[in-house]
Amino acid sequence: MPIVPATPEHLDRAAALLRAGAVVAFPTETVYGLGANAFDSRAVARVFEIKARPAFDPLIVHIADDAMLDAVVSNVPSVARRLIERFWPGPLTLVLEKRSRVCDLVSSGLPTVAVRMPDHPVARELIKRAATPLAAPSANPFGYLSPTRAEHVARMLDERVDLIVDGGPTRHGVESTIVMLEPQPMVLRYGAIPVEDVEAITGPLAHEVFDEIKPLAPGRLPQHYAPSLPIRIVDPASVPHNERLDAALLAFREAVDGYRVACVLSPRGDLREAAAHFFEYLHELDRSDAARIDAEPVPEEGIGIAIMDRLRRASHR
Ligand code: TXA
Ligand code: MG
Repeated sequence: MPIVPATPEHLDRAAALLRAGAVVAFPTETVYGLGANAFDSRAVARVFEIKARPAFDPLIVHIADDAMLDAVVSNVPSVARRLIERFWPGPLTLVLEKRSRVCDLVSSGLPTVAVRMPDHPVARELIKRAATPLAAPSANPFGYLSPTRAEHVARMLDERVDLIVDGGPTRHGVESTIVMLEPQPMVLRYGAIPVEDVEAITGPLAHEVFDEIKPLAPGRLPQHYAPSLPIRIVDPASVPHNERLDAALLAFREAVDGYRVACVLSPRGDLREAAAHFFEYLHELDRSDAARIDAEPVPEEGIGIAIMDRLRRASHR
């Protein structure tokens, strides 16, 4: 397994690999990404291949400084500048006008590109050393649970990835919030930054109709983020005892008796802690010998909106 610690030597090696067209998994503050040089279409094609990702689903470009933003996008509207000032580095992705140098595969042929500046020392350092923006989707097979640990990446993608840089468990645990600014400011994906925090700067945002499938759909397919086991959203206390025996429970604040195996997202009811554990515990339950997963809903406020968005897609059949 090509997992290496994030030492300066390994980061230099990872950067050299990326410059040579390799695919390297690396930690960000949200989830692990599967990175390739955004200006190298053959490297980017390998990312699609490794993930078995349909080519109509564009990637996010990760940058480390303003010069890279300039190299990737041709225009930054003033509202985008204000968002950048407030939220970068951090888990906010902006969809902006693309420069032609960014390969079309990255944007799935769209005239726009999704960009963010991650707030993770390893991600920033790797991008700087590679000296090129990195196109990186989450490092999981298309449609499956996102990785919040290097081991998740190794288990799901193993020898297909050239290198996995281990930066420990990720802090937020859910992906970045994606916002498009033109022609109309709109939320494209609920994520680690609550929409109301973005709206404090942009004013009210339009919200996409979520089960519409369009090429600009980010992680918006009705089924996504799904474990292998069937999963349903349910109040566990209302599930009959005999149904609990062969099921796994993903609870919010406390476990309920009688389940084969259970994980509790946050005993103190903290939604940020719940988000940080969300994919990790689903990976764990998905590997248990249970026949299915019962997931308890969490309050739909702040980052809880992103958790429930992912739960609904994970449970969609
Ligand atoms: O937190 C994150 O954003 C993580 C880490 C690795 O940075 N990345 C991530 O990438 O979640 P991915 O590929 O799983 O999701 C990227 C989403 C895609 O679903 C894609 O449709 C959307 O961003 N996207 C990319 N380019 C777009 C564009 N030009 N217009 C609209 N949506 C776009
Ligand atoms: Mg993803």
